[in-house]
Amino acid sequence: MPDKPKYYLTTPIYYTNGLPHIGHTYSTIVCDTIRRYKRMRGYDVVMTTGTDEHGVNVERSAKKAGVPESEFVAKMAAEWRALWDELGVQGDEFIRTTDLKHAHTVQWLFKLCRENGFVYPGHYTGQYCIYDNAYVDVKPGENCPDCGRPAETVTEPNYFFKLSAFQKPLLDWYAKHPEFIQPEARRNEVLSFVEGGLRDLSITRTTIRWGIPVPGEEPHVFYVWFDALTAYLSAVGGPNYEKIGYWPADLHLVGKEIIRFHAVYWPAFLMAAGLPLPKQIWAHGWLLMDSAKMSKSLGNVVRPRPIVHVLGMDALRYYLLRETVFGQDGNFSYDALVQRYNSDLANGLGNLASRTAAMIEKNSGGKTPKPAALQPQDNALAAQAQAAIGEVLELYDNLAFSRALEQLWSLIAATDKYLTTEHPWSFGESDAEQQRRATILWTTAEVLRIVTALTHPVLPESTTKVWSLLGQPGQPGSIALDDLSWGQLAPGTPLGKSHALFPRIEKTEAIERMEAMEKEAQNAPSPVATPAPASTPAVGGTAAAAAAPQAFVASNPTA
Ligand code: MSP
Repeated sequence: MPDKPKYYLTTPIYYTNGLPHIGHTYSTIVCDTIRRYKRMRGYDVVMTTGTDEHGVNVERSAKKAGVPESEFVAKMAAEWRALWDELGVQGDEFIRTTDLKHAHTVQWLFKLCRENGFVYPGHYTGQYCIYDNAYVDVKPGENCPDCGRPAETVTEPNYFFKLSAFQKPLLDWYAKHPEFIQPEARRNEVLSFVEGGLRDLSITRTTIRWGIPVPGEEPHVFYVWFDALTAYLSAVGGPNYEKIGYWPADLHLVGKEIIRFHAVYWPAFLMAAGLPLPKQIWAHGWLLMDSAKMSKSLGNVVRPRPIVHVLGMDALRYYLLRETVFGQDGNFSYDALVQRYNSDLANGLGNLASRTAAMIEKNSGGKTPKPAALQPQDNALAAQAQAAIGEVLELYDNLAFSRALEQLWSLIAATDKYLTTEHPWSFGESDAEQQRRATILWTTAEVLRIVTALTHPVLPESTTKVWSLLGQPGQPGSIALDDLSWGQLAPGTPLGKSHALFPRIEKTEAIERMEAMEKEAQNAPSPVATPAPASTPAVGGTAAAAAAPQAFVASNPTA
């Protein structure tokens, strides 16, 4: 059998000075959906997520918590990881920027850039936003134009990366690979930024301790973005990437605010090092709360756990993918969330599955019925289902999740209508009536099987239940979507056990419960306990020293 084609995708790696909210959850869930989908299309998929653990913010947060940075980030990384598990996220690689293999990759990348003549020493004075970890183009005393918080004047000796040398190579690359930056609006934004000229970029810092040391150049540590972006490569082998075989990445999925780092700096670093470039960078929009980006600093965050607790993880996944057009901003509201849950999941998919199973149980002895000749109305539904397969796969390929789900839910609505029109429950027991009923129930169950297979990447938990309810073998995740077609439901298959799918929920009560849990979470103590002052351990040393002091330096291949 030929090897499966490889597919490598990444989420951004998240800052560990805070805990996840549903904005972060959105990036991760989208990636997880793509991962599941690509696997069902026959790819050997690796998805990387992880945590971005260096920088002055972590230094400050750890100090505030009274613990060493290494302890602080270990606890925070564990929190992020646990949440992804609860959300059914199947990450393959969880990279932490404090991992030793990552530090080696960063140092190796720097060495390659330097050997190729793209790194030089200098001094830099500028206005720096410590929240965004970036120098900002403002006058002293002005606030960061991105986040609105105060910028600080910083002067430091550091190493520069010759970003200016990459204006033409980048523009040539974008022209040759029009799919490299998506969607179009973001591509245009990046093009005009690069066309406006690129200034060299400082890629080391002497004002920060908590970072990966530049070998032989201490106290220089790497600039967080040089460090963080490299995580995508260190997760799949770093210097041994060719042997591991997943680099270059097929897709970096990011939020729109970090497109420049991914579409300008990252490819320039890779070009400078002579390494292959990722194939595509897709920037999605923001989840807004009352028209503002959800963020901890604005105090308008919504966390995923209360939603999962009250409505289940599939409800959150469905809402995020259905409600927002991928690539655009979307507004979050509890009201719309519960509305979608009740109308699409409880009354839509859940109701179709339970009533189909109940009718088969009652009329076909708990086994999928044997259809007689299909009538035009059965064929019309069959044709809609067959067409939906091709359309939905194409929409998923284009990351048009919302439209894919819309198509599937119109198929569910058509099936509900079909049942109402055909009313199989009203048939008697003559042979002709029994046969007609069996045909209708088989047709309905076959639509349900197809919908289940196609919605699995978005609704992994509930589709697994429906799949076993339909008596289908294995897990829906192992369905080969390329082979999915109308008519494959074998008659005489015993149905599996019925599980509650999406019990209807009273809106006001559900919202009150979620809001109460959210409030509780906001007031909960940080997962990083603050010890009594007397026992506060001394904070000191570089990140690497704290993580693995001697081994790191001694085994460093580039020192
Ligand atoms: N650590 C950097 C990324 C480094 S990648 C090499 C970072 N971290 S972050 O934790 O601040 O945000 C990561 C991502 O979370 C954003 O790019 C975006 O994908 C997602 N989101 C954070 N807030 C969001 C919303 N309100 N809405 C949608 N996504 C948002 O940036």
